[in-house]
Amino acid sequence: MNKTLMKSSWLAAVVVVAAPAFAAGGTDIERGRYLATAGDCVACHTAPGGKSMAGGLALNSPLGSIYSTNITPSKTHGIGNYTLQQFSDALRHGKRADGANLYPAMPYTAYAKTTDEDIAAMYAYFMQGVQPVDEAPAKQTALPFPFNIRASLGVWNALFHDATPYKADAAQTPEWNRGAYLAQGLAHCTTCHTPRTSLMAEDLKRSLGGGEVGGWYAPNITSHATSGIGSWTQQELMAYLSGKPVPGKGPAAGPMAEAVDHSLKHLSQEDLKAIAVYIKSVPAVDDGSIKQAADSFGKQTDALDTIRGVDLPKEYNAMTGAQLYDAYCAACHQAQGQGTEGGGLPALFHNTSLGHASSNNLVQVLLHGIERYEADTVMPGFAHELTDTQITTLGNYLLTNYGNPAAKVTQSQVAQLRDPATAGADSGLLMLARVGMGAGLLVVLAIIAWLLRRRKA
Ligand code: HEC
Ligand code: HEC
Ligand code: HEC
Repeated sequence: MNKTLMKSSWLAAVVVVAAPAFAAGGTDIERGRYLATAGDCVACHTAPGGKSMAGGLALNSPLGSIYSTNITPSKTHGIGNYTLQQFSDALRHGKRADGANLYPAMPYTAYAKTTDEDIAAMYAYFMQGVQPVDEAPAKQTALPFPFNIRASLGVWNALFHDATPYKADAAQTPEWNRGAYLAQGLAHCTTCHTPRTSLMAEDLKRSLGGGEVGGWYAPNITSHATSGIGSWTQQELMAYLSGKPVPGKGPAAGPMAEAVDHSLKHLSQEDLKAIAVYIKSVPAVDDGSIKQAADSFGKQTDALDTIRGVDLPKEYNAMTGAQLYDAYCAACHQAQGQGTEGGGLPALFHNTSLGHASSNNLVQVLLHGIERYEADTVMPGFAHELTDTQITTLGNYLLTNYGNPAAKVTQSQVAQLRDPATAGADSGLLMLARVGMGAGLLVVLAIIAWLLRRRKA
């Protein structure tokens, strides 16, 4: 791609979007802190129990873990020596200061939309507002050959990465543009919610049409009435993004709970509204087979007559769904799955968590629970109490009675999702692997083509 051409279209775009509508006020450092929150840098760049932004969080891939790096301003172990240009190249082009390509586990594909002005504010924040940590992360990435060849990612970037910053759409309102700018850029909704092609590029024709991330299903959030979230009001969407309970919509769990807790719920009401306005306008992506909205399945019901007076089986794997529900769930979600209104215990019917065609998120929640900060009651995980067979039986019981009966839970699915290291084995995080492999393959093909040409000459 023509570098100079790209640079000049960059500049042109920056002039268009650096409109005052995007300025949030305050000093650059404060603005940068806010923007870094919108980008959720802390979620990936902080290890569990580790120092903020000091890196070391493992992002699992079947080939091994990719570890985030120290992005505190430490001159010895962090990004203290990064110039503004190098920082910008990391965010926009996935380039490290030494020129090596970053794995796309770092969402530069979305951050590339960010304006120069906002990148400069974030740079000011990282250099002056973040506490330096002069330590290397406990673990560093060491993928096996050929995935350790970062150069092959350059091929992928050249083919699929569009580094053009966001261009405002003059036909839309400033509010819509602000929402699009954040959702496509720093808040990187697309990296999780957009399906990918076989070479792991985002499928732009199905933008926000539903993707996979680490064994979780990131649902279709386009405006389609049954496949997507067309039935959600703007207020419901804003409440969901700010972590408030929304009747009929399951609480954000897994990677979405992290996005809400670390990032989205700290955004201003104006920005959340802008995001909601934009998301509600995204063209509908139809999944074809989905005829009923995810929040419209199931009803208040119990199967107590099947278990009253019946002894529990000696073999615990033989317990029925109703017995499992009664023993482990009814205390909180109530006998008929109705939960407690206002008590923070959601009803299980008419609930998006059980209405999607993919049952992955239900299994994830049953195994690992929902981790939320500042929650009064939490959904516990049952990975240590229930076997794969029991989770399978219970999952199918829940889907039949309260959810989408066409969705099924299988024992191999439960086994795979139980271990976080294998959970993403055939999903989004494999992107890293496939990107490496796909790009590696292209490099090999290019070498073969070159050799053949030489033979002919
Ligand atoms: C989804 C996880 C994720 C998020 C969110 C994320 N990063 Fe990263 N980032 C990574 C990983 C993983 C690496 C290391 C990749 C590699 O080794 O190739 C990385 C590398 C970097 C680097 C290169 C540092 C070095 O080692 O020299 C910079 C700079 C950086 N990130 C900045 C940011 C900023 C700023 C944000 C927020 C706007 C952010 N990252 C958000 C995962 C993430
Ligand atoms: C790190 C990945 C990730 C990012 C980033 C992300 N999401 Fe999600 N999102 C998910 C996952 C996974 C779920 C499913 C969570 C669940 O079932 O509890 C989800 C669920 C949702 C839902 C509920 C949909 C339904 O039918 O139940 C909405 C709405 C949503 N996300 C909107 C957004 C928006 C808007 C953004 C950007 C501002 C965003 N998400 C960013 C992963 C992500
Ligand atoms: C200690 C009380 C408690 C127990 C026991 C419990 N849950 Fe939950 N559950 C909750 C709470 C609280 C939430 C909502 C969490 C949130 O909003 O972060 C929840 C959420 C859920 C959700 C997902 C989200 C939703 O609202 O859509 C499902 C599905 C679920 N529970 C199923 C079960 C099943 C099945 C069992 C039995 C194996 C069970 N729960 C046991 C408290 C409990």
